[in-house]
Amino acid sequence: MADDLVPDFDIRKSIFMQFATHVVSHDWPNSDALNAELREVVMAREAEEGKNNFVRSNAGGWQSSGNLITWKEPCIDDLRRRIEKLVTNLLQELIRDMGKNRSFELYIDSWANINRSGDYNVVHTHPNCMFSGVYYVTRGNPDSGVPHGGLLEMLDPREAANYIQVTDTVLDARVFFENKPGRMLLWPSWVKHMVHPHVGEGERISIAFNVNVRERT
Ligand SMILES: [Fe+2]
Repeated sequence: MADDLVPDFDIRKSIFMQFATHVVSHDWPNSDALNAELREVVMAREAEEGKNNFVRSNAGGWQSSGNLITWKEPCIDDLRRRIEKLVTNLLQELIRDMGKNRSFELYIDSWANINRSGDYNVVHTHPNCMFSGVYYVTRGNPDSGVPHGGLLEMLDPREAANYIQVTDTVLDARVFFENKPGRMLLWPSWVKHMVHPHVGEGERISIAFNVNVRERT
């Protein structure tokens, strides 16, 4: 029988996801009060540090100094604990099948971003670290008629990764993430990304971070 030569099978048992890229998107619950405090702290710091003291990937907008994680306000400590929990959970998931306990020390660098109407971030990566991420404090009041306004876009850095003829799958070479308050994203630091212009009223405030990881021996 021809069917014996070409039987049905479970394709999932035959797929190996090589060169996998983990992108974590987690919506922390109970974030309204924390976000209000973070907004206040960041806005006050902008007034104190002045405009455009630090320019990294931003075209317009304001970025704080890179020592945010050491600021003394309690809301910063809460944010640090969220970053540590997300990264730790990811690390434990990555090593889950190795059958032994391993623990890691995390070294966090972090800074705040304020984008006002017209401000954006050019395509960039975050060198010299393992994980990068962002936490969204407030999105402002974006103009709903502007496509991708204020959204973070990740781009597949592999050459010719956009040779894809079937769209809306995990193979897409462009991925967009909404800047929902309370949402935390986490990705490998080598992933190219950008932030589309915030067009609208109010401030789009986010807190970016880099994480270096050292295994405890
Ligand atoms: Fe970035």
